[in-house]
Amino acid sequence: MRLPTVFLLIGAVIAQPLAGQEPDELGPVPTQERIGTMSDLMVRILYPTSDAIFYIATRTPTTSEEWTELEGQTLMLAESANLLMMPRRARDEDQWMRDAELLLRVGEAAFKAAKDHDVAALEALNDQLYQSCVQCHLHYRRGYGRRGEQLRPNEVPRTAVLPIGLRSR
Ligand code: HEC
Repeated sequence: MRLPTVFLLIGAVIAQPLAGQEPDELGPVPTQERIGTMSDLMVRILYPTSDAIFYIATRTPTTSEEWTELEGQTLMLAESANLLMMPRRARDEDQWMRDAELLLRVGEAAFKAAKDHDVAALEALNDQLYQSCVQCHLHYRRGYGRRGEQLRPNEVPRTAVLPIGLRSR
């Protein structure tokens, strides 16, 4: 009969911290909450992390620490798409989610390429990454691309503010 006693003891220890805390006393179950504005996310997360990919040819990591940092940046970029898809951030349940998914997929591929230390693969993702930014901006960023301007899918509107890595193109 020693085993059940042990279980009872363990059970009592586990139950201890919850004693006196009825579910209602814990308050409502927390949900996701926005901390930064859309502009904050763009300027402080998407912009610097995407630059790490746009500039991969000239800022190629040389040490394992630098590669680890790049892995973190590509992962942050990929996950930022999920932040854009959050309830109360997503502008709608259709086009916005599709535009954000482009970023999610490119970010996912970039994270994998960074883990593989594959510079060529990262360079090859540049155009798709650029496209993922531009497409959503054309749809949702005020004043981005002139109203009524006819654009091919990969054409940059004259009024566009380019991500910094592409300004020299
Ligand atoms: C799913 C939609 C979406 C995607 C994808 C997206 N953006 Fe944005 N971006 C926006 C919106 C909406 C704004 C306007 C935000 C505002 O002013 O409130 C914006 C604004 C910006 C701004 C200007 C922010 C400011 O306040 O000056 C920058 C810079 C920017 N985005 C960079 C990027 C880059 C770089 C990418 C791609 C790696 C990207 N964005 C991808 C929706 C998106």
